[in-house]
Amino acid sequence: MTGRTSLTIVLAAGEGTRMRSSMPKVLHPVAGQTLLAHVLGAAPQGAGAVTAVVVGPNHEQVADEARRIRPDAATFIQRERLGTAHAVLAAREALARGADDLLVVFGDTPLISAATFARLRAPLENGAALAVLGFRAADPTGYGRLVVEGDRLVAIREQADATPAERAITLCNAGVMAFDGRRALEIIEKIGHANAKGEYYLSDAVTVVRELGLEAVVIETSEDEVRGINTKAQLAEAEQVMQARLRKAALDAGVTMIAPETVYLAADTTFGNDVTVEPFVVIGPGVSIADGAVIHAFSHLVQASVGKNASVGPYARLRPGTSLGEGVKIGNFVETKAATLEAGAKVSHLSYIGDAHVGEGANVGAGTITCNYDGFSKHRTTIGAGAFVGSNSSLVAPVKIGSGAYIGSGSVITKDVPDDALAVERSPQTNREGGAARYREMKTRDKKPKG
Ligand code: UD1
Ligand code: CA
Repeated sequence: MTGRTSLTIVLAAGEGTRMRSSMPKVLHPVAGQTLLAHVLGAAPQGAGAVTAVVVGPNHEQVADEARRIRPDAATFIQRERLGTAHAVLAAREALARGADDLLVVFGDTPLISAATFARLRAPLENGAALAVLGFRAADPTGYGRLVVEGDRLVAIREQADATPAERAITLCNAGVMAFDGRRALEIIEKIGHANAKGEYYLSDAVTVVRELGLEAVVIETSEDEVRGINTKAQLAEAEQVMQARLRKAALDAGVTMIAPETVYLAADTTFGNDVTVEPFVVIGPGVSIADGAVIHAFSHLVQASVGKNASVGPYARLRPGTSLGEGVKIGNFVETKAATLEAGAKVSHLSYIGDAHVGEGANVGAGTITCNYDGFSKHRTTIGAGAFVGSNSSLVAPVKIGSGAYIGSGSVITKDVPDDALAVERSPQTNREGGAARYREMKTRDKKPKG
């Protein structure tokens, strides 16, 4: 775009009743990001680009999510849900401030790309008052049909108002529109509600534009880009489309995946060079994987960073706050949470490492557990560099294992172990009783355990 300013209004006031969920529709995730975040990510940004989001009453969470993604986004509340044109007018204040281009997009079309927004704005530069994004629907049921004469768009007919002949049209309204910003408010205010549902349809902007003697055009795109999400089935379809895109992008970037169709990625996953992801790996939001790392089959990662040449899994679970240094090895059936493991540390089998710091080169034996929760609060475990923790040990937090210390297998460590010390502690009954007494005492003080 050649220096034109824009206002993008995202409509997200719907209840999304067809999702059958207590959560507002636009907060449902696709590839680990809310529908709203996807749309806001694609909308014009930077200098001269203003964003407004229209939310329903009691949808403070939707407004919060909008501001999380776009801190400068203005939010407006549509108090009564009287239709898409009515929703746009909830942002009248932003509209009145004016912009060269007004873009209206629905919060439930997460697959839209930034390039398509740019393509839709182009006709405005050539004098069109309105450009509507259209697509050929495999099944047009439920969509507004685009009625064209030659290459001119003359009307959009909603399903409930369409004649049988109009229902046969497969060219549909994607719901994304670009208006000449100088005429937008005038056009949208003229929209009435004389239709089957008695709603103010934004799609009627086309008729108004024609009545004003102005020009409306269609810009076509693929159905995959504009799938609107109204149901859980459509949410799953959109996930498929997004996963296909993300897998292709990862392969193009040099990630090795022998069965990409079994790997689930998040929209924000980042990869270094020469990363391998084996089959059936699920990667949630906030994951970065550095050069040369291998994620073995059936592993599950969320909000975790994997260092260079690290090895994870098979069957590993990295939970939020996990940070693995260079060459770290996390083996099968190991779970980590809020844990930093420095370079070369190894936790090879059947362990839980939570609220912990594991020093460089430490070796944590099979079945070792950081007992981080006493029934009331979480406590930290520190394992020093080069320490050796024998198999099947329980490290009862808060506790520190010194660097170079050696813990005999089967130990229950309840006291700090100094650097280079040898500790073999097996189930000290006194400590257990102490813990149990404290638990009982806290319960009688009416502090409810979280667990
Ligand atoms: C709408 C279009 C239809 C198009 C389809 C594409 C209208 C009248 N119909 O139908 O032509 O083919 O999208 O997916 O525009 N919303 C509000 N306030 C309201 C009503 C809706 O904010 O009062 C928001 C919803 O949250 C949603 C969007 O607008 O994000 C679209 O509403 P929805 O009810 O899903 O419209 P469709 O029936 O899908
Ligand atoms: Ca919809």
